Amino acid sequence: MQHIAIIGARGALGSELMKVFRDGWKATGFDLPELDVTALDRVRRRLEAARPDVVVNTAAYNLVREAESNRDAAFAVNETGAANVAAVAAELGAVCVHYGTDYVFDGETARPYTETDAPRPINVYGASKLAGEQRVLAASPRHLVLRTTGLYGETPTLTKGMNFIQTVWQMARGQREIALSEREVCSPTWTLELARQTRVLLEAGAGGLFHAVQEGACTWREFAQAVLDIGGDAVAVKPKPAGGAGLARPRFTALANARLHALGLNRMNHWRAALEEFLTGESGRRLRERTPG
Ligand SMILES: NC(=O)c1ccc[n+]([C@@H]2O[C@H](COP(=O)([O-])OP(=O)(O)OC[C@H]3O[C@@H](n4cnc5c(N)ncnc54)[C@H](OP(=O)(O)O)[C@@H]3O)[C@@H](O)[C@H]2O)c1
Repeated sequence: MQHIAIIGARGALGSELMKVFRDGWKATGFDLPELDVTALDRVRRRLEAARPDVVVNTAAYNLVREAESNRDAAFAVNETGAANVAAVAAELGAVCVHYGTDYVFDGETARPYTETDAPRPINVYGASKLAGEQRVLAASPRHLVLRTTGLYGETPTLTKGMNFIQTVWQMARGQREIALSEREVCSPTWTLELARQTRVLLEAGAGGLFHAVQEGACTWREFAQAVLDIGGDAVAVKPKPAGGAGLARPRFTALANARLHALGLNRMNHWRAALEEFLTGESGRRLRERTPG
């Protein structure tokens, strides 16, 4: 039986990976404080003791706005941490799985980005994540780097508090109409589906850089409207004018799963179908129950 070590196991994606690799694999989870990816000796000590066949790193500095004034902290986790995990995975002869982001792109396009498009980050978070994926590609001969966008699922990204779906439910409570910006387009992705796609790739022995998102793309306003429609909430989501100057965020970051399709390994369905399955299932029900009123 293959042994997979999952770093960031309590996080949004890590917790779904722990579920998806529960059967047929041996899965060991690591998280702060016992394993800090920024400390190479601790990464080495923990992983050498576990001797996994596959190391998955989901640890990240995800606070996009705060990264602008905390550049060192963002690079420490997203670049140095990624490099540390990849180096130790290479020492152990293990496959290194890493997650990248749509924010490596500048968003100045009108068609979904593929793996061959040149990255050009426009903020610190994007730059730190790009540096991380480049270090993984260089340090680990057996790597799998999956770029994804707009994650949601049963476990919110803990540092952000609530996920976008919970924010929409809160905004809509007691309202007939709310307003959200139409400025950004992306491919919102369910963490459970991304975890399942990761397993498909590992079991197929695939390697290299992949885009892995739910198919299609939407604005956050359209996504919010779908959340409310599927949930049976009669609330209209109107377009809101984008705010003035602020943090630079890429405008259009839909990704195309081009390599997944080329290799016949795509299992990601349309964003709306995935959202419907999530919201009408147990995971969505539990998320709603846990959303503060
Ligand atoms: N969330 C999104 O919308 C999104 C979009 C595109 C790409 N991604 C990428 O997808 C991956 C997974 O993101 P996620 O949303 O699952 O993140 P998450 O919920 O924040 O999970 C990350 C986990 O790693 C832990 N962690 C943070 N710093 C660490 C460190 N120095 N050493 C060890 N563990 C550490 C976190 O612990 P604490 O909670 O205690 O800090 C958390 O348990 C990341 O690479 C992220 O950049 C996410």
